[in-house]
Amino acid sequence: MEGSKTHSSESMPGDLSEALKEATKEVHEQAESTEFMKNFQRGQVSLQEFKMVLTSLYYIYSALEEEIERNKDHPAYIPVYFPAELHRKTALQEDLEYFYGPLWREEISCPESTQKYVNRLHYVGQHEPELLVAHAYTRYLGDLSGGQVLKKIAQKALHLPNTGEGLEFFTFEGVSNATKFKQLYRSRMNSIEMDPATKKRVLEEAKRAFLLNIQVFDELQKLVSQCHENGHPAQHKPELRTR
Ligand code: HEM
Repeated sequence: MEGSKTHSSESMPGDLSEALKEATKEVHEQAESTEFMKNFQRGQVSLQEFKMVLTSLYYIYSALEEEIERNKDHPAYIPVYFPAELHRKTALQEDLEYFYGPLWREEISCPESTQKYVNRLHYVGQHEPELLVAHAYTRYLGDLSGGQVLKKIAQKALHLPNTGEGLEFFTFEGVSNATKFKQLYRSRMNSIEMDPATKKRVLEEAKRAFLLNIQVFDELQKLVSQCHENGHPAQHKPELRTR
């Protein structure tokens, strides 16, 4: 439009990207202020806790990316299909191998709340694929935002090498400028054709995705506390191995 100040990469009121940000503002604050995340932000994260969170993330991203691949040609997902830039499963496998050693698969198991999240991802991918974008938004834009701060905190708290080993999850090799990529991602989300009823369901699903994340953190926190009380490693935390 002549004289218009809008730029194609800027979001407009009513756009899906704006609506998602607004709809998840409160649950985002809730997620940030879970005990687990508060401790993490203070640098209070043990190697054991970090391994637990990576384990949960591995199950979550395996499910998310399996469903993304299933729906990569679905019109409600195509515009935000960025496997080379975003997908985290391989990075998480590398991190788990770094921390647990070559037999990492035998050492990990999936906590209950993580399994609930995984089940929802499979349900959405297989029965309501138009909602998958809500899950991708919640995880990938989060990882490209707060995730970068968490990376530095973890590196310092756990004395990890600055080669990036053990932190592949937080390292997006295919994204040179996170801010610009997030802009591109928002504009792609905004290009998805969506009727108002579906849009409303996507917003609800994003809130649900945040709540599933919160439940994952709360369960991890509980497992950590139990472990401290009992004076022995919790079930989902195989022996500590410092490397
Ligand atoms: C955005 C911090 C946890 C999902 C952001 C931003 C920051 C941030 C600074 C950028 C805001 C902006 O660009 O305007 C944090 C911190 C966290 C945390 C410090 C925990 C300690 C989470 C969690 C999730 C999440 C647990 C979901 C699983 C998101 C999403 C965005 C975002 C989806 C993009 C919002 C948008 O632009 O639409 N976060 N965050 N964050 N975060 Fe978080």
